[in-house]
Amino acid sequence: MSALSSNVKGIGLGLRQPIADALLERLPKEISWVEVHPENYVERGGRFPHVLGRAREHWPVVTHGLTLGLGSVSPFEREYVQTLKKFLHEVETPWHSEHLCVTGVDDVMFHDLIPIPLTRAAARIAIQRLRELRDAVEKPIALENITFYAEPGKSGMDEASFVLDVLDGADALLLLDVNNIYVNAKNFGFDPRAYLDRIPKERVAQIHIAGHLIQPDGLRIDTHGEAICEDVFSLLEYTLARLGEVPVLLERDGNYPSLDVLVEELRRLTEIYERATSVKVL
Ligand SMILES: [Fe+2]
Repeated sequence: MSALSSNVKGIGLGLRQPIADALLERLPKEISWVEVHPENYVERGGRFPHVLGRAREHWPVVTHGLTLGLGSVSPFEREYVQTLKKFLHEVETPWHSEHLCVTGVDDVMFHDLIPIPLTRAAARIAIQRLRELRDAVEKPIALENITFYAEPGKSGMDEASFVLDVLDGADALLLLDVNNIYVNAKNFGFDPRAYLDRIPKERVAQIHIAGHLIQPDGLRIDTHGEAICEDVFSLLEYTLARLGEVPVLLERDGNYPSLDVLVEELRRLTEIYERATSVKVL
């Protein structure tokens, strides 16, 4: 059971502009909800709010931010946070998520997710940012575990301990990205199931699932531009069997396949969800 009760259940898909028209025309029954990045919509007119308005006629919307990295040393820009608050309440998201990383410093946006050291000091900063954001937007906040490709500074603890430390310190929710755990597990050599076993069920609001790329040297890169691999499908089933009915969001952000292929992937996710949780969603 998800940490929060809401009308967001089963399998969702990230609503992205390149596939929005096709989705809205076909309205695949395999999609029960959609996720949007507020940065694509706040203070924008024209096509963007139009597409969002049409999507809201059919699906509940959950918001997922890209620019308020919870590891940021400096406080968030007050003006943007107020704009974000308005948007979150307009679309009636049950929670809002951001990444456990740095996304910018002062006025400079990195347009990337920069890892933070896995230390108590960094955790304390993230706890403070998360509380500030939650108080400002007046919505539950979920933090998302990210992928990284080099040890961020001198680590004081393993990644799972760090994530749990921030969750407990801020009394926050988790957006559990199963693919990210798998990618980090393969790149750094740890057991992804041991990590997942440590996540308290009551913290998890939502799951992310996606495909990743394997470079010729074996390094795995989180691209959201490939099909989900078999290991990640089975890790999702393991996760759902343990957590129960947590809503699952397929992230596809590029290298889009045909809608038929995407729907087939959603159908497979539905089968896994129903098998692991014993709950029918279709
Ligand atoms: Fe994710």
